[in-house]
Amino acid sequence: MNPIYERSDVVTVRPARPGDAEAVRAIRNHAIEHSTALWTETPQSPAEGAVWFAAHLERGSALVAEVAGEVAGFAAYGPWRELTGYRHTVEDSVYVREGRQGLGIGSALLAALIASAREAGHHVVIAGIEAENTASVRLHERFGFEQVGTVREVGTKFGRWLDLTLMRLPLGRDGDAGGTTTD
Ligand SMILES: CC(C)(COP(=O)(O)OP(=O)(O)OC[C@H]1O[C@@H](n2cnc3c(N)ncnc32)[C@H](O)[C@@H]1OP(=O)(O)O)[C@@H](O)C(=O)NCCC(=O)NCCS
Repeated sequence: MNPIYERSDVVTVRPARPGDAEAVRAIRNHAIEHSTALWTETPQSPAEGAVWFAAHLERGSALVAEVAGEVAGFAAYGPWRELTGYRHTVEDSVYVREGRQGLGIGSALLAALIASAREAGHHVVIAGIEAENTASVRLHERFGFEQVGTVREVGTKFGRWLDLTLMRLPLGRDGDAGGTTTD
């Protein structure tokens, strides 16, 4: 499959495929174990990872970044909230493998993910970011996300309260508040 976005000949962003499942799970589990990016302390099992990944593959809502033939990061979007009235809004996630962060890979992934969500006809992208995650807030600001507000102490991990900063990006598809419902 052709790449969606190439930042340079070093980083290639392309749609995720089934063979990426374990690499993506490893990146996600590292974030679960070592950071407050994901608010759980329970790593994803291979079976749970496969179910989560399959949903993204079916929707076409996951991308990976390859560097030197290896998966260096991934980005995905999914429903922000489940009720059908929220069907035009998605929530994004972007994860770059430790050791590859700060090199532009997150930017390459988010640029491609936004283009993909717009192409799929979505109206707004939401990011829910732990308030002290400066890198993620900065990454999203770089692509025009605006901070909506910070909800104090709605999460907990590693024995402390966590604040959630919500950011919002309109995708410029303002003419259609209708569309088909899914239930
Ligand atoms: C957040 C994350 C996806 C950003 O991806 P990245 O490849 O490291 O970011 P980039 O190199 O593309 O840089 C994007 C912007 O963030 C800034 N940035 C990157 N790392 C940073 C850091 N540690 N502190 C502050 N700003 C940082 C960059 O300077 C850049 O901003 P600029 O355009 O003003 O220079 C990545 O660091 C990561 O995977 N972190 C762990 C998981 C995580 O927190 N995911 C997000 C959950 S909401």
